[in-house]
Amino acid sequence: MSHSTYTRDTFDQVMVPNYSPQAIIPVKGEGSRVWDQEGREYIDFAGGIAVNALGHCHPELVDALKTQADKLWHLSNVYTNEPALKLASQLTEATFAERVFFANSGAEANEAAFKLARRHAFTQYGPEKNEIIAFHQAFHGRTLFTVSVGGQQKYREGFEPAPGGITHVPYNDLAALEAAISDNTCAVVMEPIQGEGGIITGDPEFIKGARALCDKHNALLVFDEVQTGVGRIGELYAYMDTGVTPDILTTAKALGGGFPVGAMLTTEAVAASFVVGTHGSTYGGNPLACAVASKVLEIVSDRKLLDDVKRKRERFVAALEAINAEHNIFSEIRGKGLLIGAALNPDWEGKAAKFLAAAREQGAMILVAGPNVLRMAPSLVIPDEDIDAGMAGLARAVAEVVAAGPDA
Ligand SMILES: Cc1ncc(COP(=O)(O)O)c(C=O)c1O
Repeated sequence: MSHSTYTRDTFDQVMVPNYSPQAIIPVKGEGSRVWDQEGREYIDFAGGIAVNALGHCHPELVDALKTQADKLWHLSNVYTNEPALKLASQLTEATFAERVFFANSGAEANEAAFKLARRHAFTQYGPEKNEIIAFHQAFHGRTLFTVSVGGQQKYREGFEPAPGGITHVPYNDLAALEAAISDNTCAVVMEPIQGEGGIITGDPEFIKGARALCDKHNALLVFDEVQTGVGRIGELYAYMDTGVTPDILTTAKALGGGFPVGAMLTTEAVAASFVVGTHGSTYGGNPLACAVASKVLEIVSDRKLLDDVKRKRERFVAALEAINAEHNIFSEIRGKGLLIGAALNPDWEGKAAKFLAAAREQGAMILVAGPNVLRMAPSLVIPDEDIDAGMAGLARAVAEVVAAGPDA
């Protein structure tokens, strides 16, 4: 039993009310297990929203952080540093990219991407070419530019006036994209799998078609891989599974395995438009963040680990199908690798949060993606026995919620 001064009630007394955290307070994590203030154990299928790619307190990440902590914490970009140069070298070796910009979060990586796309069009073609096309339900972060490129009106409401020159079209609708794009388009921005929007996978033909339309109109194709990147889908980045190469790719979340870091990757030609003074960040390329991310990337780049992600997905899907055979609550299991969505059928529309809370009571931490989809984004190295134990908890939770009925 804990006797901490701080409880869930403290949150309501001292924090801005923009979040509504669960009733427990986790205090310790190891691998895919987490313990709360009362010593209760949970299996973590949430992974800090696709962040803890190697689970909690992975010994090699702890070592990378502690080793760097004894050397150098921060310089700013008045100086460069070895961990940042090493991480950028790893990223350029492993991907299409030739140049890297470091940020501290997904939103900041996207902010850099959108600014670069505009700046590049401005320098290459002139000020008219500034339009950005993005997709309904897309999620790109919470800064004003990223909520504006994002395709969910609720995140913009009350924050207007928003930046202009942004058009949204339906995802996976190539004809709509073709109708919207023009020579004034500077960028088409997409998640290869929409995450917050409900785990919707981009159709291969749609993604290829988007690439061709961008080429035709000299627009940049920007892939937001903040959620899909760093091994999540069983490849290092999701674009590698599509046969399409973007011009700009953003990565964050799992890149630091729990240490805040983001990056924008691009080609030498596009990067050239970000000349000295055009963009920046005090913390971008922070040595602590880069030392940890460097180790994450090294571990996740292993082919065996990536293949295991695909195998572990099958274990999750089999367990979800078994739950569905008994309770008939899911209409579809979606996603790729360990980005897993279970869409609720119409009887349970809007009730995803009920399942999340019930699962937590049964010792399984899950996520939702909107009101109708249960989402899981666990550690990429979650042991099979933890998958089974967490799924048993979820099965108990589903039985309980179903017994009470959709209107309980
Ligand atoms: C696809 C995508 N882009 C951007 C973001 C924003 O990242 P951050 O919260 O680190 O700013 C998220 C976060 O959920 C995301 O899923």
